[in-house]
Amino acid sequence: MTTEHQASLLDTRNLGPLRVTRLGLGTMFMGGRTPRDESYRMLDRYLEAGGNFLDTADVYGDGESERTLAPWLAAHRDEVVVATKVGRPVSDLPGRGLAPDRVRAACDASLRRLGVDVIDLYQVHLPDPDTPLADTLEALDGLVRAGKVRALGASNFPAWLLAWAVGLQDRNGWAPFVALQPQYSLVERSIEVEVLPFCRAAGIGLIPWGPLGAGFLTGRYSRDAEPPAGSRMAGAADILEEARHRRAVERNFRAVNEAAAIARHRGATIAQIALAWLLGVEGVVAPIVGPRTLAQLDGLLTAADVALTAAEHARLAAHTSPPELYPYRMLAQQMGLGTLARLDRGRS
Ligand SMILES: NC(=O)c1ccc[n+]([C@@H]2O[C@H](COP(=O)([O-])OP(=O)(O)OC[C@H]3O[C@@H](n4cnc5c(N)ncnc54)[C@H](OP(=O)(O)O)[C@@H]3O)[C@@H](O)[C@H]2O)c1
Repeated sequence: MTTEHQASLLDTRNLGPLRVTRLGLGTMFMGGRTPRDESYRMLDRYLEAGGNFLDTADVYGDGESERTLAPWLAAHRDEVVVATKVGRPVSDLPGRGLAPDRVRAACDASLRRLGVDVIDLYQVHLPDPDTPLADTLEALDGLVRAGKVRALGASNFPAWLLAWAVGLQDRNGWAPFVALQPQYSLVERSIEVEVLPFCRAAGIGLIPWGPLGAGFLTGRYSRDAEPPAGSRMAGAADILEEARHRRAVERNFRAVNEAAAIARHRGATIAQIALAWLLGVEGVVAPIVGPRTLAQLDGLLTAADVALTAAEHARLAAHTSPPELYPYRMLAQQMGLGTLARLDRGRS
């Protein structure tokens, strides 16, 4: 799964036609939990450090994240790759989901809120079972053809739906998804079963959200203490991915312990080691971190400088592997098939 790597925030990777740095900056809290002035200091610092990849969504702060970015983008538009999303409800747009008219209206609304002429990466935030998938994909293709969007991505799609979507895009010559934004970290590795192998085979770049497990992989939570007041876990409802009952479990604490030991040895932080682990997974293009403050961002910027050995990578992963599932288990263990297919998508 991994090779020893030496990356840095200045390194870039292709994401379809885009070129992004290996650490993306999530802006979900900007203009909300992170006040505007602090947000601008963070954006300046990230840019100075060499970062170029910003992720937002129309739904973040009900448009406030996009609106907060606008004045900063007015001065820095050409220096960054801007990704946003469509699909969740926002108050200045009727309905929800991915119906063609709504996708077109949402794109115009995001362009307006962001104050830009084109969105670099436009992502569907989630599946919409009430809209035929082909209708959404054709509408997205239209946005690329109209020059409103440079490239397309999906988020929170299961492998089978993503595979169907990609098949439809290829068959119809529609603009393809070049990126998938799934939750992925040392403490949430479900995508390794199907999504990750599919994305590798199909040439789709992974830009994981929640790469620090919403802060669990900073070492700030412990087995025998309540989550610190004001922390993500303290405020998380039971249905959220970072809810305590889901995240604060023994195998995850063990992963943090391994990261802490390697961090001590290397003079790094637990968060930097957790990000370095993710950067060492084949197929991961750029984790999208979500620091809430400038100080938190500062602590993450050098993560891409840490080069883990293959042994360290394996040691970090030892406690949180997803379960071995049929048919993958049988194909790998009895038949020696680790890689199942190389997909010829007929695209250059
Ligand atoms: N596509 C989707 O459905 C989806 C969903 C969620 C997020 N996202 C995107 O992904 C981005 C990141 O998501 P995320 O916020 O869950 O990612 P994350 O980086 O795993 O977690 C961020 C949290 O970690 C803590 N943290 C960060 N840096 C720290 C540091 N140096 N020291 C101590 N604690 C630190 C903070 O927790 P405290 O606030 O507790 O201090 C912060 O809120 C978002 O901004 C958004 O762009 C996408």
